[in-house]
Amino acid sequence: MCGIVGVLGSHEVAPILVEALKRLEYRGYDSAGIATVNNGALDRRRAVGKLVNLSDLLVHEPLAGKSGIGHTRWATHGAPSVNNAHPHRVGGVAVVHNGIIENYRELRAELAEQGVHFTTDTDTETVALLTELYLREDPDPVRAAYRTLDRLQGAFALAFLFDGHEDLIVAARKGSPLALGHGDGEMYVGSDAIALAPLTDRITYLEEGDRAAVTRNSVTIHDAQGQQVARPVKRIRRDSARVDKAGHKHFMSKEIAEQPEVIAEAIRRYLPSGETTIRLPDDSLDFSKVQRLTMVACGTAYYACLTAKYWFEQLARLPVEVDVASEFRYREPPVTDGTVALFVSQSGETADTLAALRYCAGKADKIVSVVNVPESSIARESDLALPIHAGVEIGVASTKAFTCQLSVLLMLALKAATDRGTISPEALADHVAALRGIPAMLNLALDQDDTIRAAAQRLSEARDVLFLGRGAMYPLALEGALKLKEISYIHAEAYASGELKHGPIALIDQHMPVVVLAPRDALFDKTVSNMQEVMARKGKVLLISDQDGIDAASDGVWDTIRMPRVHDALTPILYAVPAQLLAYHTAVAKGTDVDQPRNLAKSVTVE
Ligand code: F6R
Repeated sequence: MCGIVGVLGSHEVAPILVEALKRLEYRGYDSAGIATVNNGALDRRRAVGKLVNLSDLLVHEPLAGKSGIGHTRWATHGAPSVNNAHPHRVGGVAVVHNGIIENYRELRAELAEQGVHFTTDTDTETVALLTELYLREDPDPVRAAYRTLDRLQGAFALAFLFDGHEDLIVAARKGSPLALGHGDGEMYVGSDAIALAPLTDRITYLEEGDRAAVTRNSVTIHDAQGQQVARPVKRIRRDSARVDKAGHKHFMSKEIAEQPEVIAEAIRRYLPSGETTIRLPDDSLDFSKVQRLTMVACGTAYYACLTAKYWFEQLARLPVEVDVASEFRYREPPVTDGTVALFVSQSGETADTLAALRYCAGKADKIVSVVNVPESSIARESDLALPIHAGVEIGVASTKAFTCQLSVLLMLALKAATDRGTISPEALADHVAALRGIPAMLNLALDQDDTIRAAAQRLSEARDVLFLGRGAMYPLALEGALKLKEISYIHAEAYASGELKHGPIALIDQHMPVVVLAPRDALFDKTVSNMQEVMARKGKVLLISDQDGIDAASDGVWDTIRMPRVHDALTPILYAVPAQLLAYHTAVAKGTDVDQPRNLAKSVTVE
């Protein structure tokens, strides 16, 4: 959450900073700001709301200088306002920050005792105030920044810029990611490599606790113990950082449409053509010895885990526990011998998921992660990281990452079943063939776009929507409801169909659309009974099923969306498409900000 950037350039940096911030806007868009040093003098511009407001401001009040830092904010402490916007400047120092300074109240109290005056409601201001105080005792900016860093608790990525120093940015990371980019006589700092990709393909990832003094021609890094260290310079693929909409109106619709292609790639990476053996990056995971799988994640990634529980239990007969990271980490559950702990995260930086992983480290037999960003903290701190190959996901609402997570988790469940001898070669071959066929089926699902758009038009008039599903369609119902509420702001709930009559059925009346996810599988008849209970109370049912299911049960329903028939194990991946498109078109019909819905940020690096 919050994106930070820094440039020590050879040209004017204001436009470069704004461009880089554009690529970080997915991390938050409550306010934006930049600071530069020009002829030795520090100055800044800040604006509330999206980056475009800062760009407009810079037209009227340009900011000169070849050295600068920038920030796009997701508000944690203090309302979105110009005053609370970063960079925070006190005297000769300006600071941009991603994360939370947890001991800021104590630091504020200490500063207040010294007569220091506060002008913002933020935790970050304490960082600038402390640094300025230390600069008065010792004018060396690096020492002042490092002294400040020693006082900070919590999770942060920080970049400091100093009055009178045109060739210096101090950068630090603890809990939040930070990358350094190497140019020719230029240096860059950014929350992720995507922000820096057009500037350079040579990246150094700072490690936990690292702090760096960066100049145009040098980087000096010290680790958490104060030892000077060398961190490798890695080459990133610039095409992996392409962030255009490819003709789509929104990133979300582009990312929904990309699913057949990226899932095909994910499958290819784990299932070489002609084989039925699932290949992991190494051979270190043998499920025959595993007694329990503990899966932990947040949000959409958590729903991917809930879905995978059905696969691991049914296919591999493996006991599975699934939890949201924010609950898991503080419950301090026992992690018994024989446990594999599996963490799923698109960004690989979600603070609660990372904390849960660290809780399991040293307790679980193995830490495995399923991530989209291979260089992320969660990937790096795992014994085995399984990339999902979804490519960069920009839309704040996760779509292609979800279905790629599902695909990788299904392949992992098949490997578990093979290792444990719980699947016959024929059944394995069936599953593998169905997996290889899923991209084509996803294309057929995408072909239903017009029908789904029409249904969404009607849904957009609802105040509340219910989603129902049984078996692995239950987590998908949860995901459908989450997608709808986060981008259309329509209140949506999901229930396991069988739970309906235990309470939620009281909500049903003629105003309540109920989306029923029901492929014609072994549980179909049960779900249809629950659907009848809804219709008997005048609820408006939108049935998503295959042709057989629609033929059997569409009498009296409000609307239907037809999916192709696929292997039962594959339905969660396929039915994700209509759930996503329904939310997308509803949001478009309502005119909300689809790619950047209010109050959200893509990378949740605070707990
Ligand atoms: C919803 C969504 C979020 C994320 C959650 C976890 O569309 O995107 O619920 O799934 O914040 O994020 P990651 O997967 O990055 O750990």
